[in-house]
Amino acid sequence: MRALVVYCSQTGSAQTYADWLAEDLGCPCVQLDRLDRDGADADLIVLCTWFHAASMKGSKQFKAYMAAHPEKRYGVVGVGATPMPCDEWPESEIEEAFRRSFPAAEYPDLPWCYCQGNFHFEKLGALDKIAMRIYFRMLESQIKQGETRQVTALQSMREGFDGCDRRYLKPFVERLKKL
Ligand SMILES: Cc1cc2nc3c(=O)[nH]c(=O)nc-3n(C[C@H](O)[C@H](O)[C@H](O)COP(=O)(O)O)c2cc1C
Repeated sequence: MRALVVYCSQTGSAQTYADWLAEDLGCPCVQLDRLDRDGADADLIVLCTWFHAASMKGSKQFKAYMAAHPEKRYGVVGVGATPMPCDEWPESEIEEAFRRSFPAAEYPDLPWCYCQGNFHFEKLGALDKIAMRIYFRMLESQIKQGETRQVTALQSMREGFDGCDRRYLKPFVERLKKL
């Protein structure tokens, strides 16, 4: 199967995962803007993008392409600041966020996975900085109300971190190779 990885990234982590995935699949990796041009030769197209509040960046464009080319296979890698699933951060919350962009009713068989990315406040665009300042204040108020898991989340975002790890992609790569 001829594959193509497309990415949408502001501070580099979705692009890092896209590069790793393309290497693992032995295929090209291009920005999402080039989907129309470069997608023509591919049978499998995987979007690597980042969670942005209630949505996933570029998902609208990707879904329009999927609708126009139902004969192809697709996959999605969602990258976010949320830690990898664990007791404190259950998988169900990540799935809920993913399903806001790709509802189960419309995309029941779409292979996808979540990977933790980075967070660097200083690299954000002006509007995202404003949005994050508001979000930080919301987290502070949740902490005051006893939401202890947000203490580490807030601290790590204020300090900045790089949580990218190639191993997070492994089960997804194996799944894609079986398609
Ligand atoms: C305005 C804004 C909203 C965000 N919303 C979420 C979110 O809902 N869930 C999440 O896990 N991460 C969220 N993030 C964090 C980014 O998804 C994370 O930093 C990601 O690694 C950025 O990808 P990039 O490096 O490819 O730009 C948000 C970041 C910004 C700036």
